[in-house]
Amino acid sequence: MPALLSVENLVVHFPTAEGLARAVDGVSLAIEAGEAVGLVGESGCGKSVTALAILRLLPATALVQGRVVFAGRDLSAMKETELRRVRGRDISMIFQEPMTSLNPVFPVGEQIAEVFRLHLGLARRAARAAAVEALARVGFEHPRDGARAYPNQLSGGMRQRVMIAMAMAAGPKLLIADEPTTALDVTIQAQVLALLAAQRAASGCAVLLITHDLGVVAETCERVIVLYAGRVAEVAPVRVLFDRPRHPYTQGLLRAVKRLDEGGVEAAIPGRVDPATHYPPGCRFAPRCPHVMDRCRVEHPPLFLADGTQAACWLYVE
Ligand SMILES: Nc1ncnc2c1ncn2[C@@H]1O[C@H](COP(=O)(O)OP(=O)(O)OP(=O)(O)O)[C@@H](O)[C@H]1O
Ligand SMILES: [Mg+2]
Repeated sequence: MPALLSVENLVVHFPTAEGLARAVDGVSLAIEAGEAVGLVGESGCGKSVTALAILRLLPATALVQGRVVFAGRDLSAMKETELRRVRGRDISMIFQEPMTSLNPVFPVGEQIAEVFRLHLGLARRAARAAAVEALARVGFEHPRDGARAYPNQLSGGMRQRVMIAMAMAAGPKLLIADEPTTALDVTIQAQVLALLAAQRAASGCAVLLITHDLGVVAETCERVIVLYAGRVAEVAPVRVLFDRPRHPYTQGLLRAVKRLDEGGVEAAIPGRVDPATHYPPGCRFAPRCPHVMDRCRVEHPPLFLADGTQAACWLYVE
């Protein structure tokens, strides 16, 4: 069976005053139906740009190459009108800051009802009733009152629940969640993640969860894709990645998490990601890598099979 979503050799560059920003550079990934996949990496490594490219929501300045195939259909070649039906119905997206996707001048119930009308063809009344039910499913104790609330009358956590209700309304096959909980405090974060997991279990939809929090990935995902500087560094089942990370970058990320768990200060990986306009030739992690070899500075490593994971690192060349 072909994957539900496959991204093939995605390249996204942005011309900027400082030169060409190589935000995403040859990223390939696949998500199976019903699978939960985490997309992780430090700030600026291309997570959001990858997600936006999948739904073709990038600004017009972006230079995009590669193919995105969803359920056998090539999204990269699809007409905008057709794509609009895919967005929100087959693939839905949740962003970090719900206020960017909620309209401040309409009650949230109406905004959810709109999804039922637009994508499922429900009549006005039925759509409104469906919105109230959707709010009950995401934990609104008084969903009828909730439906009448305006976004600014709700807390951040409740707004994110509205976003989840909206994203799940049309019964998508894939939900892309870009840092859905980073703006929330820790207890609310856990509640929202639990809600996401429950919605996924009930609907069977696949999830692409974007986060820089490996703890969140461990709890909610089956597989992890680690991005570094616009490229895939490692792909592995969650357990394998946590037990035997292969890429030195993944190893660094995990060390940082461990120190935090032990009560220490976060041990960030020394150095920082270069700006996307100035990525080095060869392996982009080479300047920060404790295992760097001559070859790493000139030749970009492809993904090698390494002990149950795939790592883009010359340490694992056959
Ligand atoms: N419209 C744009 N024009 C120019 N450069 C951009 C644009 N959008 C993103 N970039 C650059 O592309 C790179 C990847 O950005 P992206 O937003 O995907 O990072 P991210 O992994 O989502 O980071 P974060 O964890 O901070 O959200 C960054 O270097 C960013 O500066
Ligand atoms: Mg981002």
